[in-house]
Amino acid sequence: MKVLLINGPNLNTLGRREPQIYGHDTLADIVARVRALATDLGAEVEAFQSNHEGDIIDFIQANQDGADGLVINPGALGHSSIAIRDAIAASDLTTVEVHISNVHAREAFRRETVLTPVCKGMITGLGWRGYLYALTAVIEAAKEEGKE
Ligand code: DQA
Repeated sequence: MKVLLINGPNLNTLGRREPQIYGHDTLADIVARVRALATDLGAEVEAFQSNHEGDIIDFIQANQDGADGLVINPGALGHSSIAIRDAIAASDLTTVEVHISNVHAREAFRRETVLTPVCKGMITGLGWRGYLYALTAVIEAAKEEGKE
């Protein structure tokens, strides 16, 4: 079982970025925890972060054949990127979207998440642990869907 982990724009600055909203953990801290859980669950993780929409699409296209699932925090692109939505829809990846903060409790423009309709589900507002819940959900759903 292989799961892709994608983080979009500005998530490379976690730890420094608005810690009252996103917490004090760095992206490296979070990725290490996701990898540790994946090992416990018998899966491996391929992690990628980019501030560029096209690079995220290229990563999905380049890695989708060898992977079973996808955990993605698209950052602000989750509110706008039809192109990433189409890349997820075109892949056969069991996908869960994650937002660290509760996007429904913030500005109105964060309430629309254009990726969610092509995802299995979305986790929002549960902090860095949301990535762990998403990983668990992706692995279990992928197994139910008959993936290795
Ligand atoms: C975010 C929520 C988005 O609205 C915001 O643009 C981000 C982070 C989150 O993890 O809470 O960059 O995806």
